[in-house]
Amino acid sequence: MSPPFAHITGWGMSVPENILTNDDLAKMVETNDEWIVSRTGIRERRIAGADQTTASLAAEASLRALEVANVHPSDLDMIILSTSSPEYIFPATACLVQDQIGAVKAGAFDVLAACTGFVYAINLGSQAIKSGSASNVLIIGSETLSRVVNWKDRNTCILFGDGAGAFVMQASDEPGGVLSAVLRSDGSGGDLLSVPGGGSANPASMQTLYDGLHYIQMNGREVFRFATRVMADATQQTLESVNMDMDDIQLLIPHQANQRIIEAAARGLNYPMDKVMVNLDRYGNTSTASIPIATVEALEQGRLNPGDNTVMVAFGGGLTWGAALIQWSGPLSYERKVSPRRVRLFARSRSIFSRLRRRVEGFFWRNE
Ligand code: COA
Repeated sequence: MSPPFAHITGWGMSVPENILTNDDLAKMVETNDEWIVSRTGIRERRIAGADQTTASLAAEASLRALEVANVHPSDLDMIILSTSSPEYIFPATACLVQDQIGAVKAGAFDVLAACTGFVYAINLGSQAIKSGSASNVLIIGSETLSRVVNWKDRNTCILFGDGAGAFVMQASDEPGGVLSAVLRSDGSGGDLLSVPGGGSANPASMQTLYDGLHYIQMNGREVFRFATRVMADATQQTLESVNMDMDDIQLLIPHQANQRIIEAAARGLNYPMDKVMVNLDRYGNTSTASIPIATVEALEQGRLNPGDNTVMVAFGGGLTWGAALIQWSGPLSYERKVSPRRVRLFARSRSIFSRLRRRVEGFFWRNE
């Protein structure tokens, strides 16, 4: 029997309502709208409210993706969440999402490949399906980078935004889905983009706080140079691996970091900008969430349709970069069996039930 294909059958996004414009930023640091727009293309970004976290945004995006795919959370085998702003060092944010959506039989883990994380998750999810070890996989990119940005550093605070996006991936014998992917890294450039404090190298202390090591540190010029070099290369490599070229691609969905980087990649590929998805003007750089958020909006705008080929390409800290080639599918089954209201009720009651069970078990264990 030939291995199954890994199709993307559901998608969802969740962004905070709070909007921070360039003019708002100009009141916080020495910058202005004209500088930010001309250097980055960004006009505004979303900032998580006090009650929103990486897990809560991820859970909301996931429930929407499950609804589109018509898949119940209890049918998920695996949850892969990519983030650079996790809830904690551990447990994994994916496990918190598993609880919040009631994915009772799913394994769950985080991937850390910075802004390339979602492309890594696409490849991992599709390999799990193609190997036969999973049939229904949820992949998520979720960030609250506003919590690790130094709001006094104009080099970085203008760039990032919060948000989440999720895909449901499912096994099917129908050809299509994820056709190929390339993943790359170069740790020699790790210091170009990092949050150096709080890990085993620089454990949290008064000194690390004083030195600002818990904030994002970035060498913008070097990252820019690296990004313009690798985006086109990764796209070409993933196409070449299945004997395709840019003429076969209906839409390019790049990581939404900077308009100039995206334009340089399109130039390098000799590909028209009107076939490139860009929405960074409204969300800024949402790191691992940028590709799924851009995909959801491309679908809403009718720019991506079943049967279309798309390349999702990203770069980020690590350094990491990569691309995935996907023949777009859509939901496998149109007969509605998942009611969104019921799924939310189920998720909430499963979470309460799990907590209660652990308390009761703890009580009896103590009294044995
Ligand atoms: N507002 C106004 N001026 C600013 C500024 C801001 N927000 N940030 C920097 N400047 C100033 C600098 O201090 C510098 O002034 P100087 O010439 O007097 O020293 C000048 O603008 C030019 O700075 P430079 O760093 O050369 O600008 P740039 O054209 O490289 O743009 C970035 C800076 C950060 C926008 C750009 O390097 C970039 O986008 N890099 C990639 C970052 C990225 O994508 N990171 C995420 C990766 S996933």
